[in-house]
Amino acid sequence: MKLLSATFISSFADVAKCPPPEKPEFAFIGRSNVGKSSLINMLTNMRKLAKTSVTPGKTQTINHYLINDSWYLVDLPGYGFASVSKSARAGFGKMIEDYMLKRENLYCVMILLDARHEPQKNDMAFIEWAGDKEIPLSLVFTKIDKLKPNELQKNIAAYKRMLLTRWEELPPIFLTSSEKGIGRDELLDFMDSAISSNPMPLK
Ligand code: GTP
Ligand code: MG
Repeated sequence: MKLLSATFISSFADVAKCPPPEKPEFAFIGRSNVGKSSLINMLTNMRKLAKTSVTPGKTQTINHYLINDSWYLVDLPGYGFASVSKSARAGFGKMIEDYMLKRENLYCVMILLDARHEPQKNDMAFIEWAGDKEIPLSLVFTKIDKLKPNELQKNIAAYKRMLLTRWEELPPIFLTSSEKGIGRDELLDFMDSAISSNPMPLK
């Protein structure tokens, strides 16, 4: 897919205030600092579209970016950071949970995982929760520029092993580096084919 335009639309803390669910949508979720906002900038070729930071907890709201005037990329706050309310039912924050469960135009949740780390408890818990709720998901490994190829393969294999103890099938998996632009074409092609194979309305 050719990316022709990317425009910031809105930033809200409540799924009820998001833009009308009339266009396909892909959301980026993952622990704070995993690289969600950076990946949006990398995909759109715009260095400052989504705000990034070396300090975790930068993104605090649901941010919609309109791509090619026809579908949305969504940047979400991270889970596993102090800003996540302790009272939230699944522990990921009520905002994120509501968004995941209620957003009817959500084509796929892209779960970002730092390729440098072994499977983390809150990531596995989130994957499991989303899987149980039958939310379509993909796994996107980030920051692969920081790893040697053999370390990367080892960590991905550990994730796959862990997932296959719980699931019969693996979700789509992408390896990315926002720093180096790795994985851009693969992600955009994935979104393109998801949209073409299931045009709106979804139901
Ligand atoms: P929150 O909004 O706090 O949840 O974080 P986030 O997931 O949006 O992370 P963000 O994109 O702000 O990136 C966090 C830090 O990781 C920044 O310092 C980025 O420059 C860095 N970073 C993100 N992606 C990459 C990558 O692919 N390679 C390298 N080397 N650094 C990256
Ligand atoms: Mg962010």
